[in-house]
Amino acid sequence: MHINYIEQNKQRFLDELLELLKIPSVSADSNHNADTARCAEAVKLSLLAAGCDRAEICPTGGHPIVFGEKIIDPKLPTVLTYGHYDVQPPDPLELWTSGPFEPVVKDGKIYARGACDDKGQVFMHVKALEAMVKTNTLPCNVKFIIEGEEEVGSSNLGAFLEANKEKLKADIVLVSDTSMISMENPSIETGLRGLAYMEVEVVGPNRDLHSGVYGGAVANPITILAKMIASMHDENNHITIPGFYDQVMEMTPAEREELNKAPFSLEDYKSDLKVAEVWGEKGYTTLERTGIRPTLELNGIWGGYIGEGAKTVLPSKANAKISMRLVPNQKSHDIAQLFTKYFESIAPPYVKVKVTEHHGGEPVVTPTDSEAYRAAALAIEQSFGKKPIPTRGGGSIPIIALFEKVLGLKTVLMGFGLDSDNIHSPNEHYGLANFYKGIETIPMFFKNYAAFKQS
Ligand code: BES
Ligand code: MN
Ligand code: MN
Repeated sequence: MHINYIEQNKQRFLDELLELLKIPSVSADSNHNADTARCAEAVKLSLLAAGCDRAEICPTGGHPIVFGEKIIDPKLPTVLTYGHYDVQPPDPLELWTSGPFEPVVKDGKIYARGACDDKGQVFMHVKALEAMVKTNTLPCNVKFIIEGEEEVGSSNLGAFLEANKEKLKADIVLVSDTSMISMENPSIETGLRGLAYMEVEVVGPNRDLHSGVYGGAVANPITILAKMIASMHDENNHITIPGFYDQVMEMTPAEREELNKAPFSLEDYKSDLKVAEVWGEKGYTTLERTGIRPTLELNGIWGGYIGEGAKTVLPSKANAKISMRLVPNQKSHDIAQLFTKYFESIAPPYVKVKVTEHHGGEPVVTPTDSEAYRAAALAIEQSFGKKPIPTRGGGSIPIIALFEKVLGLKTVLMGFGLDSDNIHSPNEHYGLANFYKGIETIPMFFKNYAAFKQS
């Protein structure tokens, strides 16, 4: 039985994951390109060790993609497992209690950058394959795409899908890169938000000026930028960009009621984050605000003097990075264009503005009536002893929409993280219990899926 095999090998599984977590595969930082390549190699070797017939590194214009497969019988269904081995930058470093790439196990959790997002979750699939192969219980074919550019927008993966349709032929995509409500209340995300990511620059005078000599007589780009940004939400926290909501698919009252049935305590939420009140679009609950509504967020803002002490300066320019989370049927590039047009239109004559569009991604909703979803729900019920609740996640995984568009494949988002795992933040961690439960649950998914497909 795969459960016994996992039990007997759990310490080694953990040790191997810790080795993977030591590699700083920070895709955004070119200083780490060699580490990122080394991580791809390590993932490839782990796939071969787990029993893949073949595994290879596929170079791209950016970081490489790792592909692996084990085909036991071409007539059987094929599960395509997707994940990413790249991680977010670890800064601010001073807020980590141990090094981001010096993994430690503390209070039943693995602390390291990538522990949950997504190395820990990818590695569950590798070890689940090993367990199935070693116990002769692999019931269908399996393929892996583990990419190295998810955290920077997966810009080369779309072309890889286009160029490798035959090689990637499968019946379903299985992904563990999302979270569940809690170990007591397992859940499966049935949607991801899309993303449009913008950078803006507001330029005033042609050079930095003495704030006493010129201040009060020339517009300060930081003030102007702050006002422009502030005007992008109205008093009800609706986004003011004309046309922004035009394509938003409203949920029916019944669907909203269903979504709000998920266990959620606003008091716990506030006390966890140490905020006295939550904020958001009027007329929607917190679960709705993060699940089914689009948002506009400032990710960074800079300009002028931010060094030690004080410098009296009226800066020449100010900048910001702004992201918008999208829901069906908003389109990333269309929204980026609406943003650009609006931002340019609200710029007062004292400044010039420049808007650039970064990577984006389309929102997705995954079906809950498919064989694959039912196989996942049953697997969770079998291993957690409780039926999973379908939820709508707030995060984005840009490639998921392309699996459907390019390969015609639906996805099941069987994630085992928790929102409290601090992904993208200092002290990212992943529960040992989540890690091991994941390894146990994945073979159950395979078994259920193969059985549903045959009947
Ligand atoms: N795994 C996350 C997405 C996620 C996290 C989905 C938690 C659901 C729950 C993924 O690695 C991620 O961080 N995606 C980015 C988008 C990307 C284009 C940088 C995101 O959501 O900001
Ligand atoms: Mn991820
Ligand atoms: Mn991430």
